[in-house]
Amino acid sequence: MSKINCVGVLTSGGDAPGMNAAIRAVTRSAIYNGLRVKGIYRGYRGLFTNEIVEFNSQNVSNIIQQGGTILKTARCQEFTTPEGRKIAHDTMKQQEIDALVVIGGDGSLTGARIFAQEFDIPCIGLPGTIDNDLYGTDSTIGYDTAMNTIMEAVDKIRDTATSHDRLFFVEVMGRDAGFLALNGAIASGAEAAIIPEFDTKVDQLEELIKNGFRKTKNSSIVLVAESEITGGAMHYAERVKNEYPQYDVRVTILGHIQRGGNPTAYDRILASRLGAAAIDAIMDDQRNVMIGIEHDEIVYVPFSKAIKKDKPIKQGLINVLKTLSI
Ligand code: F6P
Repeated sequence: MSKINCVGVLTSGGDAPGMNAAIRAVTRSAIYNGLRVKGIYRGYRGLFTNEIVEFNSQNVSNIIQQGGTILKTARCQEFTTPEGRKIAHDTMKQQEIDALVVIGGDGSLTGARIFAQEFDIPCIGLPGTIDNDLYGTDSTIGYDTAMNTIMEAVDKIRDTATSHDRLFFVEVMGRDAGFLALNGAIASGAEAAIIPEFDTKVDQLEELIKNGFRKTKNSSIVLVAESEITGGAMHYAERVKNEYPQYDVRVTILGHIQRGGNPTAYDRILASRLGAAAIDAIMDDQRNVMIGIEHDEIVYVPFSKAIKKDKPIKQGLINVLKTLSI
């Protein structure tokens, strides 16, 4: 295996709080271990525009607390074609970058996997997404912060919901994963969560009404995961208006507020540990794995597993929400 002297780092896909802490950790660990490190801007796009800057320790000063990503991010269409990836590889060679650390979600790690296979270069992935939908890690960078944002928002919505005796559907992010909706509901004491992982043949609204979610309460909050499978919060509000006109119903779509803000302590520590572990993995000749955390231990997860396998929602969490919302 050829010696690695220089590591490139990029953030790709949707930004997530804690990405900066990860960039800092990758940069400083690389330098600590005698490697050069280059920041690639705007995700994979930087490999097309050559927006690449050599980083020293000061380039990542004062960023651990910042949301977003100082490297910027993008979803890059060119990188999805073989011709595009060839250009990206040429740029890496010209920039003397021997290994890549990709911080991002499902789509970004899929790109890293294909790139690594085509050109036999070491790529290490870090799970950076608020959705928490990558298999093989208990948490992804940004998930905890997003959950706290949801919790604080729902706390506020509850004040007005209670005052008006209203039913609120609050739509949260997660793409096709229900982690934010389910755990957000538990954390904020919401009455229910509608998530894509539930059996799609079951009418979740009917279930809620049947289970008497409004029997003992005048106001209710239901978190809905945005997804084509659930249909989103508006869909449920419309149905309630038509089918249960006695309920005074409102919708809040939290949207991109969930992606911003200062990372929580948990996300900063997670990102720092995973970033340092990415460099350890490179020094250890590991390649084409995502670094995850399981039972508080660092684990290497092959890209194929991290991306392809559906991360299961724990039935126990569903039970907790159901039990506590009586
Ligand atoms: O993957 C992160 C995420 O925030 C999803 O939860 C959401 O579906 C999507 O990105 C939104 O993407 P965009 O910012 O491109 O609209």
